[in-house]
Formats: sequence, structure tokens, C-alpha cells
Amino acid sequence: MSKNIVIRDLMKIYTKGDNEIHALDHVSLEVEAGEFVALMGPSGSGKTTLLNIIAGVDAPTSGQVFVDEQEITGMSETQKTKWRTRHIGYIFQFYNLLPVLTAYENVELPLLLLPMSKKDRHDHVVAALEAVSILERAKHFPRELSGGQEQRVAIARAIVTDAHLLVADEPTGNLDAESEQEIMTLLKSLNKELNKTILMVTHDDAAAEFADRKVKLAKGKLL
Ligand SMILES: Nc1ncnc2c1ncn2[C@@H]1O[C@H](COP(=O)(O)OP(=O)(O)OP(=O)(O)O)[C@@H](O)[C@H]1O
Ligand SMILES: [Mg+2]
Repeated sequence: MSKNIVIRDLMKIYTKGDNEIHALDHVSLEVEAGEFVALMGPSGSGKTTLLNIIAGVDAPTSGQVFVDEQEITGMSETQKTKWRTRHIGYIFQFYNLLPVLTAYENVELPLLLLPMSKKDRHDHVVAALEAVSILERAKHFPRELSGGQEQRVAIARAIVTDAHLLVADEPTGNLDAESEQEIMTLLKSLNKELNKTILMVTHDDAAAEFADRKVKLAKGKLL
């Protein structure tokens, strides 16, 4: 099996005055293509920091990250922005949908960064909304949707560019038990049927049960 993510000796140190915070402390991790990994650990242990570095949103103090054998940590900001659109889908706890755009328009947004015909774009958006079973709400604004439905739209936005890797930061952290179950079932089916690699931060044991493997961070160290 090929490696989707390879992380080598990652360090992230924040300096505040004399105080050094080791947000990530010699973290090494490999994730296979098609694997579903739950990333757990207490608040402040470095989970979001790790996701942000993998997604190229944040840069480490030292160490390397490879996604599909491409080194993210060596890219310029412009390269990272371009790369991210095609290779990473990011799913957030609070969905991060734009309130002034409809579900359809929110999902279409990442495609506007790519060279793609209008027809192609439309087909991609419809396929993504269909994959998360929310096509009938395409014209609704986020405020007209339930939390679970908003997260479906956000997941459609994450898969619309055909990225292989999904990173999710507490995707069910804001949902009730029933919606959590629905969203986790959806993520699992994207993993199994579309072969998406998923790295998901969660505090929730029930959500983590959907993953193939659990890894734990504590004070920036991978246990
Ligand atoms: N921009 C920053 N400047 C200084 N310290 C930061 C910054 N971002 C994060 N940190 C610190 O780095 C550590 C790891 O933070 P991170 O957000 O990755 O934790 P987390 O595991 O995601 O926590 P939570 O479960 O609460 O979301 C924390 O001690 C945090 O205070
Ligand atoms: Mg966090």
C-alpha cells in the first residue's frame, strides 16, 4: 500500500516572551492511502496544529511533511495554496460555510480556483451534493439548514475537487448524537466507497470507533 501522509520529526514551537510552547514535539506518523485515522488527545495537545501543518495552512518549526510523496514543507505559499485546492479537503467543527452563499455556491467555491468549464463545475457540484445526500437543499442558505445538514454541505465542499485526503477537526463536535451518527456513517462511506484517506480529530470515543486506527497526542508528543 502506498503512503498518503508521511510526517518526519515534526516540531512546532511557539515563543511568547521567555516562554516556549512545544505544540508538536518530535512527531512522526505515517498514514496509508485509504486509511481512516482518528487523532485524539486532550485540549492543547497539538491536534489542530498538526492538521494545519498537514494541510499547509501552518508551517512547522522543523521537520517534514509529505502528502502523496510531495513535500508540503518545502513549498512556497503560492504553491501550497494551489496544491491544497486539489489535494486536501478540510472539514471544520463549525462548518465554516459562507452565510451569504447558498449550499450550491459554497460547494462551488473551491472549483473557482481551478481551470474548469462552467459545465464541468456544475457537474462536480451536483455530484458532491449527491454524494452527501443534500442535493435537494442546494438552493438553501446555511441558516436554513440544520447543523448536520450544514456539515454535509461542508463535506461536499471538501470532496468537490476530488481531493484524496480529508482532514477533519472535530467534525461532530457541534452535533447531537443522531447527527453525529449520520455524519460518521457518511465519512466512513466516503472512506470505503471513494477510497478517501481521512485524518479526523475527535474527543468522542463513539466517533473514533468508525476509524481503522486511533493515534493519541499528549503535550505535543505522539503516544
Ligand atoms: N498561534 C499560537 N501562538 C501561541 N501558541 C499557540 C498558537 N496556536 C496554538 N498554540 C498553542 O499550541 C498548543 C497546541 O494547540 P492546538 O490548538 O493544536 O491544540 P488542540 O489539541 O487542537 O486543542 P483543542 O482540543 O482544545 O482544540 C496549545 O498549547 C496552544 O495554546
Ligand atoms: Mg483543536
